[in-house]
Amino acid sequence: MCGIVGFVGDRQAAPILLDGLRRLEYRGYDSSGIAVCGDGALRVKKARGRLQVLSDLTRAGADLPGTLGIGHTRWATHGEPNDINAHPHVSQSGRIAVVHNGIIENYMILKEQLLRKGYTFRSETDTEVVAQLLDYYYDQCNDFFEAVMCTLNAIEGAYALGIVCADYPDRMYAARKDAPLLLGFGEGSNYLASDVTALIRYTRDIVYMDDGELAILSAGGIRIYDRQMRPVEKEHHHIDWEVDAAEKGGYAHFMLKEIMEQPRAIREATAARIQSGRVVLSDLTMTAEEIRSIGKIYIIACGSSYHVGMVGKYNLERMLRRSVEVCLASEFRYSDPIVGEGDLVIVISQSGETLDTMAALREAKKRGARILSIVNVVGSSIARESDDVLYTWAGPEIAVATTKAYSTQMAVLNLLGLYFGDIMGTVDYETYTAMIRGIQNLPTQMEEILLQKDAIHELARECASHEDVFFIGRNLDYALSLEGSLKLKEISYIHSEAYASGELKHGTISLIEDGTLVIALGTYEPLFDKAMSNVVEVQARGAHVLALTTEKHAADMAARVPMVIAIPETEQMLLPQLGVVPLQLLSYYIALERGCDIDKPRNLAKSVTVE
Ligand code: AGP
Repeated sequence: MCGIVGFVGDRQAAPILLDGLRRLEYRGYDSSGIAVCGDGALRVKKARGRLQVLSDLTRAGADLPGTLGIGHTRWATHGEPNDINAHPHVSQSGRIAVVHNGIIENYMILKEQLLRKGYTFRSETDTEVVAQLLDYYYDQCNDFFEAVMCTLNAIEGAYALGIVCADYPDRMYAARKDAPLLLGFGEGSNYLASDVTALIRYTRDIVYMDDGELAILSAGGIRIYDRQMRPVEKEHHHIDWEVDAAEKGGYAHFMLKEIMEQPRAIREATAARIQSGRVVLSDLTMTAEEIRSIGKIYIIACGSSYHVGMVGKYNLERMLRRSVEVCLASEFRYSDPIVGEGDLVIVISQSGETLDTMAALREAKKRGARILSIVNVVGSSIARESDDVLYTWAGPEIAVATTKAYSTQMAVLNLLGLYFGDIMGTVDYETYTAMIRGIQNLPTQMEEILLQKDAIHELARECASHEDVFFIGRNLDYALSLEGSLKLKEISYIHSEAYASGELKHGTISLIEDGTLVIALGTYEPLFDKAMSNVVEVQARGAHVLALTTEKHAADMAARVPMVIAIPETEQMLLPQLGVVPLQLLSYYIALERGCDIDKPRNLAKSVTVE
């Protein structure tokens, strides 16, 4: 999705803006641009394509003098990706420039009004309306602060805005509604960004803006106002990520680095939450009484986070003996959901900014449900609007395809199940202790699996030329197959589908023909024999099978199947934690063999902040 960076301070702005934008590239974009105020002028450069084009166009920023500026990476929504539609958008008078994330829903009406007043538009975007409206109000009242307020009152929809005006080369304006925006405090310089990764090289002192707030940034400080334009004091957050956490660190891709980081990420997410063999969730405010009286449990999420919810359904139902409904956030929000007081809604999101997930959260909250979120990005919107947050502590995840965030979400959900199950009295002692032992062993077992990466690369070479793949599995293997399939399709562009194996014969098996690649998951011990039957069934129709199973069954599987990956034994409920690692590696190496842009797959964004 789009990214915003802003700088005002004691140095040349353009190189800092370009560097910030480079750190936002991972979010997905198709064009970029910067606007800088200096020497009494507002200079704007924009370019379609990679950021390098913009950097070359400005000689790495050297051509743009000035210590105040805004920058943007655009992910097209209104109008095709080109130089004109790229941000910043400049008003007709050439005085005002705007960068924007989100969608201005009433832009058509505003545009018509401005056209009638003689304004002309260059782009097809909704954002240009903001620049022209600012110009219009500024002309009317001759007070830029008032012009900003009038504009914010007129626009509807979602926005994170960065605004500069050539008449005020010492300050920039920032406003937020339903789109993330944060402020960075430095020494003699201050910053604006839509994502903390753009700023950690410059400052770790961060304030997250809330909906309805307006900020005015100058080199000497930042003033923040609420909806009623009253000054507000905000909590400052210290970001303790290492700068190199957002660098590739010698790996060819962020995705591979993040796959390899999983043992450490799981340790971070779980170690401090297990004390003397018991789960301790000191970050949870729910009382034992509140936990015992939970009615229905919903899990709401999108994409891979939803797939974690699918694993969670099996595991929480087993540990809590309560029914758990897993909902796609985009469906839940419009489904008139039967959710209310006494119900617990578990919201899962890596970014904490996914628009559909946020909207579903608000819907559930409005209806009285309690919200517990599992989130990676500290201080994100979902985290801040939840009654309780369990952070996954995975560190920054840069690759669009999630890996370590998925694993840590699952680990936290399992801990939550144990914690609730203990209080509810629904999880037996043997299962509890086996799970604790299993969770503590996960990092070491993941390291063992990661040692197989060259062998998995070999298998990937054999699979890379297929254009259709079916992932099949039952129970937890089915939940895991959903993630395996998504991982493969998003980065390799191979058509891939996941099916509950039992469903095959209800239609899908008709697609299996000579040479079709089937990735059969057979890690779930209680249903191993059934998994094997399904392998035989698809082989009889000519399928080429790659199987994932546990070490215990590897030999049996290898007797039937040419390609086998084995994972170590663990407690049943933890099998997807291990099983996902080879599936991530397999997708990664298949995409590598096909020459795909692994960290930034086409058409995808890291955090989906539009509907
Ligand atoms: C998975 O690799 C994708 N990046 C995507 O499905 C992602 O999980 C989904 O967009 C949800 O994002 P979130 O966890 O940040 O809410």
